[in-house]
Amino acid sequence: MSNSTIAQVGVIGGGQMGSGIAEVCARAGLEVVVVEVDATAAESAEGRVRSSLERAASRGKISAGEVTEILARVAFTSDFDALADRDLVVEAASEDEQIKLELFRRVGALLKKDDAVLASNTSSIPIVKLGAVSGRAEKVMGVHFFNPAPVMQLVELIPSLTTAPETLDRMRGFVGEALGKEPIEATDRAGFVVNSLLVPYLLSAIRMYEAGYASAADIDKGMVLGCGHPMGPLALADLIGLDTIRAIGVSMYEEFKEPLYSPPPLLDRMVDAGLLGKKAGHGFYAY
Ligand code: CAA
Repeated sequence: MSNSTIAQVGVIGGGQMGSGIAEVCARAGLEVVVVEVDATAAESAEGRVRSSLERAASRGKISAGEVTEILARVAFTSDFDALADRDLVVEAASEDEQIKLELFRRVGALLKKDDAVLASNTSSIPIVKLGAVSGRAEKVMGVHFFNPAPVMQLVELIPSLTTAPETLDRMRGFVGEALGKEPIEATDRAGFVVNSLLVPYLLSAIRMYEAGYASAADIDKGMVLGCGHPMGPLALADLIGLDTIRAIGVSMYEEFKEPLYSPPPLLDRMVDAGLLGKKAGHGFYAY
């Protein structure tokens, strides 16, 4: 099915991932509304999109005029009802099952268009549960972007047992043609493809640091210079957010009972201390 039917996109949550997804959609020419919990959070989301676009302009990737045009395509609001007329809503709230279930219940009842798709950017929460509470399970699936969304080419597509094949086709077209990104498909199991491999690696690096094998800088240098990764695991953990990694690890551990997925005590303590990584100004490194 053509993706041309998706012109109006809603994004729930304007944090790092939500604002990045909104930017990607607006840069692709779509009309976007970002819904946040209150006016202050909506303003912060707008600031994130603006500064990312200005950064792109300062590097000559887009013109100053394009920054204005792209921003004009994105509205930021705390009015949940603004999602009602959307062709596609991408939920990018915190990685918390209860929060996501409540959002899917609410937005499922709100969407006016019969064929509107309701997607989650979750990394690890069962898509089938989100579909079940939405009342429109055949139109619900995972559409998982990577951080920073404007830069990373990959999007994981995750149909659940109850997702209609047409919904998957539509999202395949949307991601590949409308957004110009590269989709891969995965089964509805916590972690999908990328986090099933990445999260145990990041948690192993945290355990290594916790056990005093090496400094954070040397662990990271090892993987950057020894394996050609763009950044080391502890810097990457800071970029993703330690609270997010912890939440993904917990969901993956609950699903598979695999000890490698279980967050180490240092990660718990850092999250409890508010040392959440780059977004908090401090994690394994100070920013
Ligand atoms: N927003 C927009 N653009 C950004 C950006 C951001 N937040 N961060 C970097 N960029 C752009 C820069 O503008 C620059 O573009 P050009 O080269 O075209 O001018 C390019 O990305 C490179 O940036 P920098 O030169 O500043 O820095 P860098 O070369 O060190 O790259 C990086 C930064 C892109 C983040 C790179 O280090 C990288 O790819 N890191 C790995 C990121 C990764 O693994 N992400 C996946 C995380 S897992 C996940 O997200 C899923 C999950 O569920 C947890």
